[in-house]
Amino acid sequence: MGTVYAVANQKGGVGKTTTAVNLAACVAGSGSQTLLADLDPQCNATVALGGDRDLHPSSYDCLTGDVSVAEAARPAGPDNLWLVPANRDLAAASIELPRIEGAETRLRERLGPVRERFAFTLLDCPPSLGPVSVNALAAADRVIVPVQAEYLALEGLVQFLETLGLIRRELNPALKVSGLLITMHDNRTRLAQDVERELREHFPEMVFDTVIPRSVRVAEAPSYGLPITEHAPSSRGSDAYRALAKELAERG
Ligand SMILES: Nc1ncnc2c1ncn2[C@@H]1O[C@H](COP(=O)(O)OP(=O)(O)O)[C@@H](O)[C@H]1O
Ligand SMILES: [Mg+2]
Repeated sequence: MGTVYAVANQKGGVGKTTTAVNLAACVAGSGSQTLLADLDPQCNATVALGGDRDLHPSSYDCLTGDVSVAEAARPAGPDNLWLVPANRDLAAASIELPRIEGAETRLRERLGPVRERFAFTLLDCPPSLGPVSVNALAAADRVIVPVQAEYLALEGLVQFLETLGLIRRELNPALKVSGLLITMHDNRTRLAQDVERELREHFPEMVFDTVIPRSVRVAEAPSYGLPITEHAPSSRGSDAYRALAKELAERG
C-alpha cells in the first residue's frame, strides 16, 4: 500500500512546492509510481512541471465534484511521475467547501485507488490553514513540513504543529509528522546556521538530516518546466533532493 504525504506549512514561500515537485521527481526517478497533486490555486507545481493553469480534470474537480484523485492523474513528463493539476477554479474551493456538509474529508473520500496505484503520493498544499489544507491533512498519512532557514522560522512552526494536533484529534488520528525539512539554507550565513541549530535543539528527532541548500539552479528549474533532477542533474540541489528521497524511504 502506498503512502500519502501532505507537504504543508501555513507560511508561504518556505519551499513547499519546490520540495513537492523535486521530491516527487526523485522518488519517480528511483522507479516508484509517484503522484503529485497540486492543491494550490496558484498552480505553481503544475506550472513547474510544464503544465498550464486551465487543465481538466483538476484537483478542484476532486474536492468539489465526483472525480477521484486517481482518475484525475495524468502523466507529468518524467517516467513514473503523475500529476493532478490545479487550475484557476481552485480559488473558489475555499468558499464552496464550507457550504458542503462533511467538507473536511472530501479529498480523503475522493482518493479512490490512489494507495493501490501509487507507492508515493504528495499533496502540495496552499500557504494557509484554510479548507483545502485541512482536506489535505485529513487525507494524508504523513506530513512533510518545509521550514525556511530564516529569522522567525520557529514562531509559525509551533503554531502549525498545534494545528496538526487539532487535525489529529478531530479528523485524522493516524496523521504523523514525517519530518521538518530545512530549506533554502545558506551555509555561509551565521543566521542559517543558528536557525538550523535551534530547530535541531527544539525538535531533535523531527528534523530531517538532509538540508536543502539555497541554489539558483533550484530556483530557476520551474521556469524550464522541469524538476531539478532533469534541469541540473548533477547540482547540489539535485543531490539534496535525492538524499531526501532516500532518507524518507528509510524513515518509512
Ligand atoms: N533551495 C532553494 N534555493 C533557492 N530558491 C528556492 C529554493 N527553494 C525554493 N526557492 C524559491 O523560493 C520561492 C518560494 O518557494 P516555493 O517552493 O514556491 O514555496 P511555497 O510553496 O512554500 O510557497 C520560489 O521562488 C522558489 O523558486
Ligand atoms: Mg507553493
